[in-house]
Amino acid sequence: MLKLGVNIDHVATLREARYRGRGLGEPSPVEAARICVAAGAHGITAHLREDRRHIQDRDVWELREKVATRLNLEMADVPEIVAIALKLRPDVVCLVPERRLEVTTEGGLDVVGHEKSLTETRLKLNDAGIDVSLFIAPDENQIAAAARTGSQFVELHTGRFADEFAAARSRWGETPSSPDFDKVAPADLGGATASTELPRLISGARQAHALGLKVNAGHGLNRENLPALFRVPHLVELNIGHSIVSRAVTVGMEAAVKEMLLLMDNYNG
Ligand code: PXP
Repeated sequence: MLKLGVNIDHVATLREARYRGRGLGEPSPVEAARICVAAGAHGITAHLREDRRHIQDRDVWELREKVATRLNLEMADVPEIVAIALKLRPDVVCLVPERRLEVTTEGGLDVVGHEKSLTETRLKLNDAGIDVSLFIAPDENQIAAAARTGSQFVELHTGRFADEFAAARSRWGETPSSPDFDKVAPADLGGATASTELPRLISGARQAHALGLKVNAGHGLNRENLPALFRVPHLVELNIGHSIVSRAVTVGMEAAVKEMLLLMDNYNG
């Protein structure tokens, strides 16, 4: 079964918009996480950025203490945050690029360029019982390097796919909220019109799986583009934030999570 990790960063983004630096405020990412888990989410993802743009240190500690679920901590491979992770002991750390130099042209982590330091960090985290995931573009060389680091997971960056999908939708003259939208078969997207990224995600997932990596995916996923993404094999978990938090504003977090889980039931691997 395809698992859902809900990324709650944008709940914190909303709080910080009003209460930055005050150590309090609403909405609470921890309360939101509790509702997601009660609604059936398989895990919670939070990104503790070096600049503390949204999630704060107190959030991750509170999440760990008060929400009984699999915690996936997104973070940069930098000593300050690695030290926090080693104390916090999330179930999984997903290493992501935060600085321009760490990013490939396609937006994922440059594992090829940072293989040695990523391997060292992977070892430290694994020694503390934490699984490691690397957020990478579906690039053959990056996937091969990810396997060499000994990481347990890759998270394939779906941002470019999501952008292509949105562009295709606007070319067809329908808005993503069109009631007919989910009648569009995935094959229609992959036809001559659309995605160059979808075939890359498909072959990237195959390559990663063959190398013994577990395959997650995330960034820019929403209810409109998911049926197309389901052509990608071997997916274990999707990390979805913005679209669920956005939807929660109108229908509530519980309903937003349940809708997404229902849609994800259609994945056949
Ligand atoms: N996966 C990773 C590694 C991320 O950094 C993010 C947040 O940007 C997500 C998934 C979730 O992306 P979104 O908020 O677009 O669903």
